Formats: sequence, structure tokens, C-alpha cells
Amino acid sequence: MGGSRWLFHFLLVSVLLHDSKAAGLIGWGPGAAAACCSWTGVACDLGRVVALDLSNRSLHGVISPAVASLDGLAALNLSRNALCGAAPEALARLPMLRALDLSANALSGPFPAAGFPAIEDLNSSFNSFDGPHPAFPAAANLTALDVSGNNFSGGINSSALCLSPL
Ligand SMILES: *[C@@H]1O[C@H](CO)[C@@H](O)[C@H](O)[C@H]1NC(C)=O
Ligand SMILES: *[C@@H]1O[C@H](CO)[C@@H](O)[C@H](O)[C@H]1NC(C)=O
Ligand SMILES: *[C@@H]1O[C@H](CO)[C@@H](O)[C@H](O)[C@H]1NC(C)=O
Ligand SMILES: *[C@@H]1O[C@H](CO)[C@@H](O)[C@H](O)[C@H]1NC(C)=O
Ligand SMILES: *[C@@H]1O[C@H](CO)[C@@H](O)[C@H](O)[C@H]1NC(C)=O
Ligand SMILES: *[C@@H]1O[C@H](CO)[C@@H](O)[C@H](O)[C@H]1NC(C)=O
Repeated sequence: MGGSRWLFHFLLVSVLLHDSKAAGLIGWGPGAAAACCSWTGVACDLGRVVALDLSNRSLHGVISPAVASLDGLAALNLSRNALCGAAPEALARLPMLRALDLSANALSGPFPAAGFPAIEDLNSSFNSFDGPHPAFPAAANLTALDVSGNNFSGGINSSALCLSPL
């Protein structure tokens, strides 16, 4: 238990916390992914991380842009933590990401502007995001969007959503 707990913390630090130790993303090379597939909150398919559920785990710090190196990621749930700083632009470039839940943190700044080509379910509620309401012109499959409880300005740009079945 002690060992796997240590590994789990290493994972959190490597993936999420953008500090000097994590900058090189140690442990997240293609070979290393398979080793962490059995860790709590991690789901893999053929050795690639496809889902990461680290919700409600008292995580602090910022989300590392390096999370985008998990390019097979289909679901990322970081809700109900104490994460702060910006949501990395790189999240919008994850080609397979279908569900993103960043709700109930202390994230701030503008929401990543465009991208999210595969997104279906996005929840960014209860943070301190600001700037214009996010729009998802590239998201043909977006069916659930919750941006409530932020500090976005203006209205939702409905023409930027009209492609989606929302
Ligand atoms: C994220 O996890 C929370 C539980 O902490 C759950 O309620 C929520 O539905 C999950 N979000 C998604 C998109 O699955
Ligand atoms: C969050 O975790 C706490 C204990 O760690 C638990 O009591 C609570 O039910 C969890 N909340 C959700 C929404 O999963
Ligand atoms: C978004 O997340 C918040 C907080 O975690 C939750 O209360 C809300 O039900 C979620 N919205 C949707 C549409 O699932
Ligand atoms: C949208 O969903 C359909 C049906 O599940 C799927 O075939 C298609 O690849 C999806 N589009 C994107 C951009 O992910
Ligand atoms: C929301 O934005 C307004 C105008 O930019 C600002 O005055 C206010 O302090 C912001 N509130 C929060 C909770 O960030
Ligand atoms: C709304 O979105 C459309 C399509 O992405 C864009 O052309 C337009 O400039 C946007 N309008 C505003 C007010 O941002």
C-alpha cells in the first residue's frame, strides 16, 4: 500500500502540478504509461491512458499543460478539488477528449478558446473563469455544457454553438 500510494502521488505531481520537478514529465513516456494503468483513477486501453478521474481528491496547484501529452485521453475529471491558475490551452487540442469536468475548483482566466474537436460533455462550472463566454465551433458532438458559476461576460454566442446538437 505504501508503495502504490507513493506512486499515485508521483502520478499526481507529474501530471497535474506544474512545478520544477514535474517539468520533464518524468514517468509519462510511452513506456511508462502501462505501468500506471492500474493506479487509482487511471483507465487505459492497450497501454494508453484513456480516462483520468482525480475528482474530489483535495488536489492543489495548477494543471500542467503536459496533461495534453496524454493524447488518447477521452475523459478527464478534475472536479471538486482546489486547483487554481489557468486551464491549459493544450486541453483544447486533445483529439479524443469527449468528457471534461473541471467544475468546483478555483480556476481562473479565459477558458481555452477553440478546439475540443471530440467534446461531448463539458463542465467548467463553479470556478473563476472570466472573459467572453466560451464557444465551441469545432465541436459537432457537444450535448452537455455547464459554464454556470463563473465570471464570464456577455451572452453565450449561439451561432458558435449552432453546429452542435446541444
Ligand atoms: C466527475 O466526478 C464527480 C464525482 O466527484 C461526478 O459527480 C461527475 O459526474 C464526474 N464528471 C463526469 C463528466 O463524469
Ligand atoms: C468527496 O470525498 C469525501 C471524502 O473524501 C466524501 O465524503 C464525499 O462523499 C465525496 N464527494 C463526492 C461528490 O464524491
Ligand atoms: C457540473 O458540475 C457541478 C459541480 O461539480 C455539478 O453540481 C453540476 O450538476 C454539473 N453539471 C452537469 C450538467 O452535470
Ligand atoms: C461524433 O459522434 C459520432 C457518433 O458517435 C462519431 O462517429 C464521430 O466521430 C464524432 N465526431 C467527432 C468529431 O468526434
Ligand atoms: C467579475 O468581473 C468583474 C468585471 O471584470 C470584476 O469586477 C469582479 O471582481 C469579478 N468577480 C469575480 C468573482 O472574479
Ligand atoms: C460568434 O461565433 C461566430 C462563429 O464562430 C463568429 O463568427 C462571431 O464573430 C462570434 N460573435 C461574437 C459576438 O463573438
